[in-house]
Amino acid sequence: MIGLREFTLDDVEPHNAGEDDETVRWLTEGVASTPESTARWIERCRRVHSGAEPGEHAFAVEVDGRLAGMVALNPEPVEGSGPGDVNVSYAVHPWARGSGIATQAVRRAAEIAEVRGLGTTLLVRVDPRNKPSLAVVSRIGARYEGELTCADGSRLSIFRAPLCNIAQGGPTKGNGP
Ligand SMILES: CC(C)(COP(=O)(O)OP(=O)(O)OC[C@H]1O[C@@H](n2cnc3c(N)ncnc32)[C@H](O)[C@@H]1OP(=O)(O)O)[C@@H](O)C(=O)NCCC(=O)NCCS
Repeated sequence: MIGLREFTLDDVEPHNAGEDDETVRWLTEGVASTPESTARWIERCRRVHSGAEPGEHAFAVEVDGRLAGMVALNPEPVEGSGPGDVNVSYAVHPWARGSGIATQAVRRAAEIAEVRGLGTTLLVRVDPRNKPSLAVVSRIGARYEGELTCADGSRLSIFRAPLCNIAQGGPTKGNGP
């Protein structure tokens, strides 16, 4: 059973300890987190949650009280997004992978996005070489909508799913690229 909650500064050390090469490669654009950068990120997340500033609504993912990853909802415009899109990103610590935690966390986050009125559609942007992430996208039932070439030349596959479908459980299989 997983739980989602807001990050606190107590999470800095376990958050960074759970960041491996896969997370740095696929999520943090090749830049490893430091205690300072994670603390700054958590402080920013807390301002977003309180409504003080716009940005990414990030949640700590807990399993049996232990920090196991993160899931973040970004309703702000990102490359490839459109009206109503809420871009989701996620990572699970290596020890917690392979048991459905990411899939559950994205489903739970979609419910929160609906409750908070962040948008209507979950947008997932995945490097087509990131097979574990493509599998998550498939499990939540998001639909493949094409490829995006970013300003830095990288390519991302674009998937979307209506938030209400995910929150209700949604299909277990999506359309792959
Ligand atoms: C992407 C990432 C979060 C996927 O994690 P994951 O553990 O593979 O995904 P899930 O939590 O959904 O678990 C799926 C696995 O659990 C199994 N599973 C067990 N119970 C399950 C359940 N109830 N529901 C779904 N899957 C379940 C699935 O069969 C699957 O097993 P497999 O890997 O042997 O096929 C992880 O690889 C990661 O953190 N990568 C680095 C960061 C990253 O790439 N982020 C995404 C950027 S777009």
